[in-house]
Amino acid sequence: MRQRQSRPSVARVYSYVLGGRDHYGVDKDVGDYFKGDLPGSDQLAITNRHAVRRAVSSMAKQGIRQFIDIGCGLPDPDNSDVHQVAREQHADAHIVYVDNDPFVAGHGRALLAVDSGIAFVEADASKPEAIREHEDVKRLINFDEPVGILFAAVLSFLEDDEDPSGVVRYWTEQVPTDSLIYISHFRSGETREAIATERKIIDAFGRGRLRPIKEIEALFGDLEPLDTPTVRPCAEWRPDDTMEPHKLTDFETMVVAGIARKR
Ligand SMILES: C[S@@+](CC[C@H](N)C(=O)[O-])C[C@H]1O[C@@H](n2cnc3c(N)ncnc32)[C@H](O)[C@@H]1O
Repeated sequence: MRQRQSRPSVARVYSYVLGGRDHYGVDKDVGDYFKGDLPGSDQLAITNRHAVRRAVSSMAKQGIRQFIDIGCGLPDPDNSDVHQVAREQHADAHIVYVDNDPFVAGHGRALLAVDSGIAFVEADASKPEAIREHEDVKRLINFDEPVGILFAAVLSFLEDDEDPSGVVRYWTEQVPTDSLIYISHFRSGETREAIATERKIIDAFGRGRLRPIKEIEALFGDLEPLDTPTVRPCAEWRPDDTMEPHKLTDFETMVVAGIARKR
C-alpha cells in the first residue's frame, strides 16, 4: 500500500509527469492538475529532461569526464541518467548527484550511486561550500581537470535571497578553464499559462520562481556562452535528429536552457 504524504515534492511530481512510478497520491494530484487543467504543461518536464540528456552527451563529447548534477531529481524513468549518458562516451566518468530532498536521497543512493565512481550527496544547492567540502566530492572530482556542472530546473526553486547567481559564481570559481556549466530554468511571462504555472508551483511546493530571460542569462555571469542566443527553449536547444522542427506551444517556450564555458 502506498504511504501517505501530506505535501507534494517537486522531485516526485516531476518524476510522475515524466512517467515515473515513485510518487504518492498528493504528488499525483499536482501532476494531474498540470496535465488536466493546464494541457501541454507536461512539456515543461519532458523537454527539460530531454535537453539534460543532450547537454550531458554534448559535454562528454567535448571531453568532460566528471560531472556534478545539482538538483538531480529521482532516477530518470527512461534510464538516461547523467552517469548512463556520460558513460556512453567515457566508461570511467565520475558523477556526483546532489539533491536536498530526502526521498530523492534514498532512491539516489540505491539506484544512482551504483558504483564507486558515482556518489549521491544530500545537500542544499544554496550552500555550495558544504557540497564542495563533502568527502565524496573531494574523492570523485579532480578540480584541476574540467568539470561539467548541471543546474537543470533547480535554480527555479531558489529564491532571490538565496542568491542563485552567487551559487553559479561559486562553482565557476571552483572549476578550471574549459569546464562547462549547463543551466535550464523556467521562464516567466505574461501569458495565462505562465501565470497559472507559477501560481500552481508556489501553491504546491511553497516556493519557486519563474524568471525573465534576461535574469536567466545573467545567471551565467562572466562565463562564455556557447550558443547565440545564450538561452533558448529546451524544445529547440541543440536539437537531435529525433526532434521534428515545429512551432512551439506556449508551454514549450517556458523552459529554457543554455551552456557556457569557463574562460
Ligand atoms: C524539476 S526537478 C529537476 C530534476 C533534474 N535536474 C532534471 O532536470 O531532470 C528539480 C529538482 O531540484 C531539487 N531541488 C530543489 N531545490 C533544491 C535545493 N535548494 N537544493 C538541492 N536540490 C533542490 C528538487 O528536489 C528536485 O529533485
